[in-house]
Amino acid sequence: MSEGAALEKKRYECLEDLEIGSAMSKKLRELGLHTVENLAMTTPKELEQAGINKKSAKNLIQKARLCMPLPFIRGDELVKMRQNILRLTTGSNMLDKLLDGGIESQSITEFYGEYGSGKSQICHQLCVNVQLPLEQGGLDGAALYIDTENTFRTERIFQMAKNVGLDPEEAIKNIIFAEAFTSDHQMFLLENADKVIKENKVRLIIVDSLTSHFRSEYIGREMLAERQQKLNKHMHRLIKLARGFNAVAVVTNQVMSKPDVFFGDAIHPVGGHIVAHTSHTRVFLRKSARGPVRIARLVSSPRLPEGEGVFKITERGIENVNENDSEN
Ligand code: GTP
Ligand code: MG
Repeated sequence: MSEGAALEKKRYECLEDLEIGSAMSKKLRELGLHTVENLAMTTPKELEQAGINKKSAKNLIQKARLCMPLPFIRGDELVKMRQNILRLTTGSNMLDKLLDGGIESQSITEFYGEYGSGKSQICHQLCVNVQLPLEQGGLDGAALYIDTENTFRTERIFQMAKNVGLDPEEAIKNIIFAEAFTSDHQMFLLENADKVIKENKVRLIIVDSLTSHFRSEYIGREMLAERQQKLNKHMHRLIKLARGFNAVAVVTNQVMSKPDVFFGDAIHPVGGHIVAHTSHTRVFLRKSARGPVRIARLVSSPRLPEGEGVFKITERGIENVNENDSEN
């Protein structure tokens, strides 16, 4: 094993491997820190709150950070990475245009919005589109679908596949499905996805929804830090897979309204800063007054301007809106 790989392995290992004594390990575990990576990402202040003195807190974190792989890469390597980026069509011209040609590989794209806004429908459509050849906006690959809300429907895949000219019986075989029962299980699935991704030529990884389990399991302020740390780890795992396999990573997210906000946006995606900073591209979906028509707003992107576009959800899947889709 190379030195890098050995360090990488240690990153997800238990705190006890740092040889900091069993009493200290126990104390850290009580704070919700279980792995070397957890400790590396914490702050001395958090440790001080658990009665660890400032100097020891700093030393502990430093020790953990030394086990993390170096985050530096050369600029030219970055250029090479970006040249390989592929784009996956959503099935809607306007949505594709908003995203400069489709959803990028090697980074995370988040769709957030209220119930029925079309998040899961887009995910279904992407599972079909990814199988198309590159000339048709696909990635000539398979999809991995992690479903946390039991909303994946094979019937929808059949309908959508038929509509893009794929054999539905073949299309369904190219979707690897896993239902996540808890947030821990969700993390476990992604942590162990390498093999299945490689063996099946997976080019699209979906987590629908990213936050629902975390939101229902970690309730109250005292659990917030632990929840955020786990979400952070989960998202980083996803980025790593997306980069490693040149795959598109899509997550969905629910929204919550902030009744105390009088000006500006009262609707926010769940997940706070961690999800905001690790989702490279964020798209807000909302319903419109025109039945099946949905409005997509590009809210944040590292290089594209904000903007809006419309698409519609029909029996055939995600489609362009045309003039006949009048107000109803
Ligand atoms: P939550 O997961 O509940 O937060 O919502 P979501 O954003 O994932 O919603 P989803 O993508 O499941 O969208 C559901 C909506 O898509 C429905 O309310 C319908 O309007 C539309 N839809 C789903 N299936 C069909 C279909 O077969 N035909 C048509 N015409 N519309 C459909
Ligand atoms: Mg959904």
